[in-house]
Amino acid sequence: MTTRLIAVIAAGALLGAGLAHAIVAGNTPPPSHTITPLPSNGTADTSWSSYNLNLRSDRYSNIADLNASNVGQLKELCRVKVEPAGSFQSGLLLVDGILYASARSGTIAIDPTDCTVLWKSLYVPEQKEPYTSNRGPAIADGRLFRGTTDCHLLALNAKTGAPLWNVKPCDPEAGEWLAAAPIVWDNKVYIGIAGGEWGVQGRMFAFDVATGKQLWRFNTVPTPGEPGSETWKGDSWKTGGGGLWTSYTLDADTHELFLSVGNPGSDFDSSVRPGANLYTNSLVVLDATTGALKWWYQISPHDDKDVDVAAAPMLLSLRDGRGVVALGSKDGHLYLIDRQTHKILHKTAITTITNQDQPVTDNGMVVCPGILGGVEWNGPAYDRLHHAVVVGAVDWCSVLTRKADPNHVRGEVYLGGTWTLVTDPAASGWVTSVDPETGRARWAFHADAPVVSGITPTAGGLIFAGDMGGHLYALDSNDGTVRFKQQTGGAIAGGIITYRIAQHQYVATTSGNISRFVWGEAGLPHIVIYGLGSPVVKETASAETKPVALTGDATRGSAVYNRLCVSCHGASGEGISGPALKNIASRQTVDAIATIIRTAGKRPELPSGGAMPSLYPGILNDQEVMDVATYVHSQ
Ligand code: HEC
Repeated sequence: MTTRLIAVIAAGALLGAGLAHAIVAGNTPPPSHTITPLPSNGTADTSWSSYNLNLRSDRYSNIADLNASNVGQLKELCRVKVEPAGSFQSGLLLVDGILYASARSGTIAIDPTDCTVLWKSLYVPEQKEPYTSNRGPAIADGRLFRGTTDCHLLALNAKTGAPLWNVKPCDPEAGEWLAAAPIVWDNKVYIGIAGGEWGVQGRMFAFDVATGKQLWRFNTVPTPGEPGSETWKGDSWKTGGGGLWTSYTLDADTHELFLSVGNPGSDFDSSVRPGANLYTNSLVVLDATTGALKWWYQISPHDDKDVDVAAAPMLLSLRDGRGVVALGSKDGHLYLIDRQTHKILHKTAITTITNQDQPVTDNGMVVCPGILGGVEWNGPAYDRLHHAVVVGAVDWCSVLTRKADPNHVRGEVYLGGTWTLVTDPAASGWVTSVDPETGRARWAFHADAPVVSGITPTAGGLIFAGDMGGHLYALDSNDGTVRFKQQTGGAIAGGIITYRIAQHQYVATTSGNISRFVWGEAGLPHIVIYGLGSPVVKETASAETKPVALTGDATRGSAVYNRLCVSCHGASGEGISGPALKNIASRQTVDAIATIIRTAGKRPELPSGGAMPSLYPGILNDQEVMDVATYVHSQ
């Protein structure tokens, strides 16, 4: 479909619209506590100790060395490759002078001033990996915690990378895994399972930091008898989804743990699950000590558009002292929710909004933002300097088609329909600064490519953000003017952090990501560090040139497939965002498949050259193309 589906809407026109929309509010009584004022950032100058800097998830850095007048001189100081090649969506952490990141199966610790690798570890999955995403580690008391794609929670020695303990709270054969970046508080590691698209039953857990012992569990889709189970009919709760994809937020004074719960299963055929489907697409607040439900607010009841609430909520106070939660949704809105009354104070559109209030039809319907749009896995941040909420978002429409499919097959995707991505208008991104007192946009910056990165406001009057086209930006937090823009060489899909060491402010970003959220600059995963000094080390491209073989090797090709193709084409070639490749031999020869891989992203017969990322040359060499083509052909 290449006709222009929606007019490009000027930033001012779509923002701040007060949209009327029926919302089911949480029905528990208001808590009796009062919200205490937020403390200052403490040790933020030299560390970035949690996914979103602090447990409130506000990402506001006190460092003011870099400002609108000198940030233009920021230079790349060094970069380091992160293994394995593939999806790289990690938050970055800086603790005790060490910078950490995690990828699908690799974990890396580097020097935050010159990229020297201090240690790295590669985890070998024991079972099938339903998907490849990982959103980063947590660190506390000398231990690093991370989830794996086959559902293990690992504790490593943060100084050496040596394994300490390893527990397995879920089952990858059922489509469950641990993608989220955990948080740690009061000797507990908090993490929940991902996998709503596989029809899992979502669960949140707390584990003991020293031993990995499970301390409590909360079902985001209640089992019969639990509160909320009356919003599911029959056995539909068993495949109800409610995945926990990203990171979490905690108020250490009230012991409230804030979760963003993902979409219900199946995604598009909501007739299999009549009812509101609690606690999908909800803000859920638990007692962090016991896991008991305190209160909740459902953003999108009975969803049929995959509008997860999938980024960590953020805590702030209004001028009159009221505590609020800022929450971004894949439905393209920023929500501000009152922590005392549990009511919405403001709902602000931050992307193009089309057909969000219409049911998905059997004939296909354009929905904006589509299933890869809105606020993805990095949520709102707090610009304390201007008392503003700043949030990144993706403007990208999809065509959704419902297809009745009541038969869930354990471990397989359970969508109840199909989706395609709209290519005209092309996907783009927004960074929007919103006044939390009024819900009105102060300014909006429009990026050429989607914005899914962490958003980092600083006391120097800057907002650091990145886009999937590979650009790192420093925006002026006063009005959104671009003060610095640099091509990092790969899609920015993870954290951007800032820190100060020996009187110098640094900015570190992820760059390079190959996952289903890819187009344009995919790039190999790297951590790239910027500063005002002179470049330290420049990584030289590996000059390995293997002879081109005429024949491929399916065993080697299977390893390439699992590394680079599985996230879009599925573990058994069943197709996820890319088409099914099972039985492709009936349609294509090995050489034709090799040509498709070599020309991906620039195929003249497809709109915009196609949606498959360009992996050759650069990421795949000739031998690897032949190997993976041979493997795909043999499936
Ligand atoms: C980011 C998602 C993504 C990744 C990663 C990806 N593909 Fe694709 N692939 C697609 C999409 C989308 C298409 C549909 C055609 C297009 O838009 O280019 C496609 C098409 C194909 C086709 C043509 C299918 C047909 O029916 O003709 C083959 C073969 C293929 N991919 C193989 C691979 C292999 C092998 C890899 C890994 C080396 C890979 N793809 C990685 C998304 C992806």
